[in-house]
Amino acid sequence: MLVLGIETSCDETGLALYDSQAGLLSEALYSQVDLHAQYGGVVPELASRDHIRKITPLTQRVLEDAGRTLSDLDAVAYTAGPGLMGALLVGATFGRTLAWALDIRAIEVHHMEAHLLAPLLNADVNADAAPELPFLALLVSGGHTQLVKVADLGSYELLGESVDDAAGEAFDKAAKMLALGYPGGPRIAEAARRGNAARFRFPRPMTDRPGLDFSFSGLKTYTLNTVNEHAPLTEQDIADIALAFEQAVVDTLFIKCRRAVEASGLSDLVLAGGVSANQSLRQKLELDLDANLHYAPLALCTDNGAMIAYAGALRLLAGEQAELAVNTRPRWPMFELPPISPATAA
Ligand code: KG4
Ligand code: ZN
Repeated sequence: MLVLGIETSCDETGLALYDSQAGLLSEALYSQVDLHAQYGGVVPELASRDHIRKITPLTQRVLEDAGRTLSDLDAVAYTAGPGLMGALLVGATFGRTLAWALDIRAIEVHHMEAHLLAPLLNADVNADAAPELPFLALLVSGGHTQLVKVADLGSYELLGESVDDAAGEAFDKAAKMLALGYPGGPRIAEAARRGNAARFRFPRPMTDRPGLDFSFSGLKTYTLNTVNEHAPLTEQDIADIALAFEQAVVDTLFIKCRRAVEASGLSDLVLAGGVSANQSLRQKLELDLDANLHYAPLALCTDNGAMIAYAGALRLLAGEQAELAVNTRPRWPMFELPPISPATAA
């Protein structure tokens, strides 16, 4: 089954062609980072307009790169939520209409489920790397920080989540305070490499009480206070604060993952979402967590069309399809999804 995947939930236009037999055939990504950088964050209206400009040429590109045409498609998968309403509408309207015009099936994909399943797309190539069900997942992106128990594909139980900012959002805000620009995660990680770990120690929020919830807004305030105390900042101050911030986030995520592994007795952990590209986080979990870790290749950690095509293909193979209307759900709890029938999805 040849599936076109479309991702437009935020500031990346991602297209991909996934074949359920042959795997990922092609992908194309246009990042709007430069467009939004001057505003220090994503401007929703500009994001929607830019998706409109890019979606058709990128569709043509993934087809050409794979040596296929529109008539070869069996289905179209698009992100229906969660995300920015206007941005979602571009991909969903384009995808649903294309499927209707070609008289093929369409499928609405949950963006966070696609992140969660992205490491399995890689595991298809290397069967040894596939996590064993049931497994744990840490979803860390710009909008979500969640610890999830995956009982079966499509059956998700929320174990804990951020009560305020998401981890990626905290990275972005801290980067803004340090005048490092947008998106913050990679910029903080880069500055942190030159930092002196002995200089500051930032708090590890909510790790001194039981439970698996997170909070990152206090860490943000702590960062702001440190910035103000040392202003004007030297290059070294910026690097030292970036490192202290990154270590605090990484440690906090690690402590909650360790707690989840111990409490559940599960030994496989999937790490997914944009923040899963963070090398310090990967190293800490690799070294100190008593679990088998699974993550996507770096290019598939942040938003992309390949994960949408893959998650859509799993649900299509299980017999699901979208109705004819264009539906988007800017807020869409992943825990409302129906299970993906394992018998047909195999
Ligand atoms: O999954 P994603 O691309 O989009 C959402 O679904 O939100 O995640 C984007 C987030 C941003 O907040 C970005 O700063 C963060 O992921 N991020 C990182 C890194 N790369 C991206 N955070 C920390 N370290 C990174 N290397
Ligand atoms: Zn995402």
